[in-house]
Amino acid sequence: MYKRAIVRTPGESLIHGLTTADLGIPDYKKALAQHANYIEALEECGLEVLVLGPDEQFPDSTFVEDIALLTKNCAIITNPGAPSRKGETAAIKDILKEFYGEVEEVQAPGTVEGGDIMMVGSHFYIGLSERTNVDGAAQVIRFLENNGLSGSLVELEETLHLKTGVAYLEQNNLIACGEFLLKEEFKEFNLLEIAEDESYAANCIWVNDRVLIPSGYPKARETILGAGYSVIEVGVSEFQKLDGGLSCLSLRF
Ligand code: GLY
Repeated sequence: MYKRAIVRTPGESLIHGLTTADLGIPDYKKALAQHANYIEALEECGLEVLVLGPDEQFPDSTFVEDIALLTKNCAIITNPGAPSRKGETAAIKDILKEFYGEVEEVQAPGTVEGGDIMMVGSHFYIGLSERTNVDGAAQVIRFLENNGLSGSLVELEETLHLKTGVAYLEQNNLIACGEFLLKEEFKEFNLLEIAEDESYAANCIWVNDRVLIPSGYPKARETILGAGYSVIEVGVSEFQKLDGGLSCLSLRF
């Protein structure tokens, strides 16, 4: 079970965030309202949410998941593969030290973004993507092993981040779509398939036996309800315009 989450309020510079989506420019006021609703949903799941202020220097800094990996045994600060996001990590170090004492840090030439790391119990799947390289993933696995945990690699062919297309909902249930439906690494899971036309909903998050899903994806909602979960829908359209989703918006621990 999670106790806490860390989020960062989007700054006005959000509109300049990285994107491959062709969905237009985010509406800043709407993004703020959606972010507030997201925080409420996390609180409804019993989390104490630490809300960091906007950091205008970094347009993508609301996507805090990418800058750290928080586990039950250790905290690891990543080194984002996107050049414009590298400076985001500096602001999180002291905050994480308050919770963990010591923190590990991925060093260049290794690059890692937290959106590429999926926790399944004590094991962590690490996607090799345009943002996460072999060197960075190897450093994370070494930190995990030093702390009684384990990690393994998953090659990505199509998606930005591993968790763009896959989400672990506990009880051996794995949300998956696209390339992840056929991956050897995931064949032992009970796969809950997300249709290609609702692929954005594959980025959902399990939080203390509830599942947060993006609003507007009825088939995905039915699939997750059908698997026995209680669902909370959260509108995140303004973050979708920047390739961001529900998992990207928080560090949960
Ligand atoms: N806009 C989020 C990212 O590309 O990292």
